[in-house]
Amino acid sequence: MQVYLDNNATTPLDPEVVEEMLKHFRDDFGNASSIHSYGQRARAAVEEARQKVAALIGAQPREIVFTSGGTEADNTALRGIATWHRKKGNHIITNTIEHPAVLRTCQQLEKEGFQVTYVPVDNQGIVRLEDLRKAIKPQTILISVMHVNNEVGTIQPVDEIARIARENKILFHTDAVQSVGKIKVDVKALRVDLLTLSGHKIHGPKGVGALYVRQGTRMNPLLYGGSHERNRRAGTENVPGIVGLGKACELAAGCLDDFQGRVRFLRDKLETEILRRIPDIVLNGNPNFRAPHVSNITFRYIEGEGLLVSLDFKGIAVSTGAACSSGSVEPSHVLTAMGRNSELASGAIRFSLSRMNIEKEVDYLLETLPGIIDRMREMSPLYRAAK
Ligand SMILES: Cc1ncc(COP(=O)(O)O)c(C=O)c1O
Repeated sequence: MQVYLDNNATTPLDPEVVEEMLKHFRDDFGNASSIHSYGQRARAAVEEARQKVAALIGAQPREIVFTSGGTEADNTALRGIATWHRKKGNHIITNTIEHPAVLRTCQQLEKEGFQVTYVPVDNQGIVRLEDLRKAIKPQTILISVMHVNNEVGTIQPVDEIARIARENKILFHTDAVQSVGKIKVDVKALRVDLLTLSGHKIHGPKGVGALYVRQGTRMNPLLYGGSHERNRRAGTENVPGIVGLGKACELAAGCLDDFQGRVRFLRDKLETEILRRIPDIVLNGNPNFRAPHVSNITFRYIEGEGLLVSLDFKGIAVSTGAACSSGSVEPSHVLTAMGRNSELASGAIRFSLSRMNIEKEVDYLLETLPGIIDRMREMSPLYRAAK
């Protein structure tokens, strides 16, 4: 049996998305900027997709800027705001558990003369609002805090953070790559200025995403060239990708209830049964403020990578939060920021579900996992020393 439980890394394409995209690879191949009918068909498709993306997040279509994915949208938001508002101030606030698309961009901006405050999180991965308030300076121009964390699924209080930002006349960006299409995201209710989303986390194509930019927000583009995307993002539109993203958003809008009901039920079953069947485990994240499709669990006395490989032999795909850099495995920066020591961080596994998972798959995982853990612990010197 093949069981894919790594949907926060990427999701399988929905066949309906593929169908819509194929039309634009095969027949309607025009450049959306061309005036002839080929171009007009491409333009119409791009604008229809823009409406679908906007509808999913409660935005106006003109507030949607198509990008090459979540990474580019994050880079555009941070660099675009930072460089435009530099005269007003050079201070940015983010936090320690952001995706590298935000963290590394902030580190680069620091090299370019900006100051960045990385606000800590509590041991369940929630940004400490008091610390965030204290970090605000007269020079602060932007706050960026993700909506749902990709490793542990924790939901940040972005509406409250947006309010703090607004009260202090600071722009607010949220990376919503892991929340859009999974929980309700409404840019008007959250009152964010900028929001990042990505196609391949919601059964759409890779290499396409969008940045919501509240109307009237002044910023620089990341890429210079033609006047595409109202001068916010130069480059010939990736029409098949954009069409795929639009279709994925349309389908996602109809599946939010499924996430809250069936997907949440499957995640809860997976988690409660693992907790019941396997001793010496630690749940990572906030059990109450958490997206319905993610469970991050530390299996003590074992290495997450070893468990990942053993599960892969049985046809089950999961992930660890660890990052491979220059040949060595670094423990997850998210779990480390949540105060987990290296032993707890290195035994962590992320299970992430999608609307395409079924109960039989969770049952197969639950049958397979306890035996693997037993065998790995029998061989673990750490386990023998502790018991
Ligand atoms: C929270 C978050 N932000 C940004 C990204 C990057 O998105 P993309 O893969 O579309 O560049 C990801 C992807 O893993 C993510 O999980």
